Amino acid sequence: MAAAQDAAGSGLGRFLNRRGFLRNSVAAGAGLMLTSKSAIAQQAGRTLKVGMVGCGAQGRALQNACVGLDGMQFTAVCDIWPHNLRQVHQRIERINRHDATPYEDYEEMLDKEDLDAVLLPTPDHLHAPYTRMALEKGLAVYCEKMMSNTIEGARDMVKAQRETGGILQIGHQRRSNPRYLHARDQVFYGNELLGRVTHVNAQWNRAVAGMIGYPQNAVLDAATLQKHGYESMEQFMNWRWFKKFGGGPISDLGAHQIDMFNWFFKTTPKSLIASGGVDYYDSYEHNDNVMAIYEYELADGNIARAYYQVLTTTSSQGFYEKFMGEDAALVISESPGYNQVWREARVQESWDHLTQGDSPTLLRPAGTIHHKFWQQPRPWTQPTPWLDTQGVIDVRESEPPGHFELPVSMNVPYHQPHLQNFFEAVRKNDPSSLNCTVQQAFECCVITLACNEAIETGRKIEFTKEDFTA
Ligand SMILES: NC(=O)c1ccc[n+]([C@@H]2O[C@H](COP(=O)([O-])OP(=O)(O)OC[C@H]3O[C@@H](n4cnc5c(N)ncnc54)[C@H](O)[C@@H]3O)[C@@H](O)[C@H]2O)c1
Repeated sequence: MAAAQDAAGSGLGRFLNRRGFLRNSVAAGAGLMLTSKSAIAQQAGRTLKVGMVGCGAQGRALQNACVGLDGMQFTAVCDIWPHNLRQVHQRIERINRHDATPYEDYEEMLDKEDLDAVLLPTPDHLHAPYTRMALEKGLAVYCEKMMSNTIEGARDMVKAQRETGGILQIGHQRRSNPRYLHARDQVFYGNELLGRVTHVNAQWNRAVAGMIGYPQNAVLDAATLQKHGYESMEQFMNWRWFKKFGGGPISDLGAHQIDMFNWFFKTTPKSLIASGGVDYYDSYEHNDNVMAIYEYELADGNIARAYYQVLTTTSSQGFYEKFMGEDAALVISESPGYNQVWREARVQESWDHLTQGDSPTLLRPAGTIHHKFWQQPRPWTQPTPWLDTQGVIDVRESEPPGHFELPVSMNVPYHQPHLQNFFEAVRKNDPSSLNCTVQQAFECCVITLACNEAIETGRKIEFTKEDFTA
């Protein structure tokens, strides 16, 4: 955290000295509520000028997700590694058809360019200082998850947003995904098809993988690596496994899905227990496997438990989230393979109305149903129960549930709806219209990074109100 604060402080210092001392002195007097550039962009009704910082895998994904988005254009792109910078710069020119100026230094880009917004798909330790620098310049920020590799860094981002009143979206893109929105607003709430939800089971399992490599003709020199805090090219490429830069797999992969626990339950957990370790990979600092259980107390006073696992030694069943209720289970994933509601056999009768287009009065009084749910009814898939030779179900088994596919699909890149939501908020100059507020992202960051602490200390963590206060 010290590093993040120092970087933020020095960046701000340089900014104050060079560019906007007068403007910022006045703003500081007024509680540092800067006039956001988006207000200007909105007034002028012009295309937003966007800079992208970090041209790795996620930089390419965001560049691709912006293809065809109206009202924005990349005018600058930045990366300390010329190899990646060149590739994304060329892709922006060739595919997005934007004329973007390349930079190897973030502060130089901020100084020279007249931007409205920046996208920050950089390693996690840069999120806090880079977000603060941009917000204090009046720019809107789309910063990738995990919000920060430290809770202090994430807390500083909440403060920076509050101090500036700027637009800050964190890249928890499931919150803008129409399949997830349908699942949450129509299935989980709305029609309450799951009944009382008692448990969640979610996982991200990945097969064994070696260190990420790099082309031998694109090695960064030792001085550049050192300047940015890396000991070697290997560490630079595999930053997410090292404590100084990232939060490990539980943060890198888990953040997306653990955020869904809070989002669906509309609250934060009471407590957490976790187990895990550096059991398989010798070269890394972070736990390569984590198993965690959160306990939630819901608005109605009921308890729900959410289990999460991230494994890096097996790809078994990939990644998904499963919300399990007394009437049905919802299985969903960003990957379209998981997209079903599994209905308990005992509620079969009433549910037939859902797929046959009848008035669904059995579940909820007419008029309170979100009618969109029925617009594209899908046929049930009824499993054949396993019967013995006498045609009797084994007494130890429940009758198998039937299932149907959620009637919503998404045919655009995963990140596009979230980016669209961001650019619309910038145009309206309205932080409250963001699908992932900085406070929600902070809460996710707190409970996710707490897994590492719970494993390290071997203790159950009881969350307090202060933990979620920035
Ligand atoms: N939302 C999602 O689905 C999703 C998916 C993958 C990654 N991410 C997030 O995106 C971020 C980047 O991840 P990635 O997989 O692209 O990593 P990566 O290692 O592939 O790319 C990081 C890039 O940042 C550059 N960089 C490092 N220091 C820099 C600096 N000081 N200034 C400018 N550029 C710098 C590197 O040279 C590299 O090109 C991470 O926060 C990660 O958690 C989000």
